[in-house]
Order: sequence, then structure tokens, then C-alpha cells
Amino acid sequence: MTWNPEQYHKFQSERFAPFDDLVKLIHVKPNLKVIDLGCGTGELTRRLADMLPDSDVLGIDSSAEMLAKTEAQVRPGLTFKQQDLQELDGQWDLVFSNAVIQWVPDHHKLIPRLIELVKPGGQLVVQLPSNHDHPSHVFVRDIAGEEPYRTGLDGWVRQPPVLTIFEYAELLYQHGGPELTIYEKAYPHILENSDGLAEWTSGTLLVPYFAKLSEDMKHDFMAEYRKRLRERWPESPVFYPFRRTLFAVTRNK
Ligand SMILES: C[S@@+](CC[C@H](N)C(=O)[O-])C[C@H]1O[C@@H](n2cnc3c(N)ncnc32)[C@H](O)[C@@H]1O
Repeated sequence: MTWNPEQYHKFQSERFAPFDDLVKLIHVKPNLKVIDLGCGTGELTRRLADMLPDSDVLGIDSSAEMLAKTEAQVRPGLTFKQQDLQELDGQWDLVFSNAVIQWVPDHHKLIPRLIELVKPGGQLVVQLPSNHDHPSHVFVRDIAGEEPYRTGLDGWVRQPPVLTIFEYAELLYQHGGPELTIYEKAYPHILENSDGLAEWTSGTLLVPYFAKLSEDMKHDFMAEYRKRLRERWPESPVFYPFRRTLFAVTRNK
């Protein structure tokens, strides 16, 4: 799956707000060994490193395209490496991840695995979008299930692995301990019109669909998607509330 850093950054300021909420959950201390899972282009990893005194921060990402942009962020105490978060070994004082684990399947297995990467007394701090029931996401699954896209995608439709906050809370408590915070928040966005929704999802949700479709089919898929969005939101501007899940747990087990 190929990420496009330029497309992803079109809504940069909107994507900063959840990061700013997430870092408030960190117990800031000097000399932390930190890993940022799915660091993307590294801008937010740099902001994270800058707020943690004398920390040693490693950003990892599986995408060569995103990682290529991290060079500008490297400084003493901040490095980057291409790696899949599912193949990690080691332990860190802080395991951090912003807007990434929605791409990884089976969160009942993933969350305990991420907690194992945290040193005893350390923290796992995560944000992930939980907007998969919004029509902007449902329309994508609907169209993907219809012809000719169904055949073009070999019957594949992306099923979101995202759990409810009660399910995450259970997993965090069972594998990490009782010192946990978890909440969902709807971030309000005002877009010029319904095409703005298609722009937004083009940088994230649609990426794996684009990877599987031919250029012609991609074009037709987008035309159909924009049409449905326009029918649902003919007005201008369009209000887009975006739901996200944020959590932090201290490893006491
Ligand atoms: C939406 S971007 C978020 C980037 C950054 N954390 C931020 O907040 O701007 C998602 C990133 O997760 C990365 N990613 C997805 N699955 C991954 C995996 N299994 N291992 C490592 N990185 C992954 C993608 O390559 C992409 O750079």
C-alpha cells in the first residue's frame, strides 16, 4: 500500500488537534526511551521528542514514502527506521502511536502485544480514528461491494478492526493495569463542500482501495463516491465531525 505524504498533509492542522490532546496523557519525565509507532513523515515525532527532556526517541514506519520525509526531523536523540510495528522486539518507557493502529488487524491480539513493548511502570499512549460508521466511510464500503468494483477489488472490502472504548478499556485493564484513561472525542471540521470529504478520505481510508484498483476504475470509483457525498451533503460548508479514540495505560502487570 503506497502512502502519499502530500495528500495526507492537506488536512495537517486538523490532524494536529488529536495529537495535542494525546500528548496530555503522557507522564513527562526526563531520560525516557520512547518509540513512535507509525511515525509517518516524522513531524509529530519531532514535536513529541521536543516535549520530552533528554529523551531518546525512535520513530518507525513501514512506508518508505513517508519515511523518506523524516530526514528533515533527525537530530541528536531522534532517529527513524523502516519497520513494521507488528515485528517489533524490545521495551520502551513510552510506546506512543498517533493515527496508525486502525491499519493493523485484530486488536484483541494487538493491544496485549503493544503493552508487552512497555517497560514495567511505563506507558502505552494511543490515538486512533473511530469514525468508521460515518457515511463518508460507509459509502466507500458500499461502493466497493458493488460492480464493477467488487470484481476489480476481488471481493475485498476493508473491515475496520476498531473496537469500542469498553472493549479497549477491558484489554488495557487486563494486560496493563488499573491506571488508565480512555475517551472518545468528536473533532469538528468545517469543509467547503462535500468534495472536501473525498479529499480527506483520499489521504487515508481510500489508500488501500487505490492500491488495488486500475487507474480507470479508481477514477470511476471516485466519481461515484463524490456523487453520493454530494447527494448526502448538498450544502456548503459541510460540517464533518470526526470521532477518535484516545487512551493511555501504565503497565503495572
Ligand atoms: C495516518 S498516518 C499517521 C502518521 C503519524 N503518526 C501522524 O500522526 O501524522 C499512518 C501511518 O502508519 C503507518 N503504518 C501503517 N501500518 C503500519 C505498520 N504495520 N507498521 C508501521 N507503520 C505502519 C503508515 O505507513 C503511515 O505512515
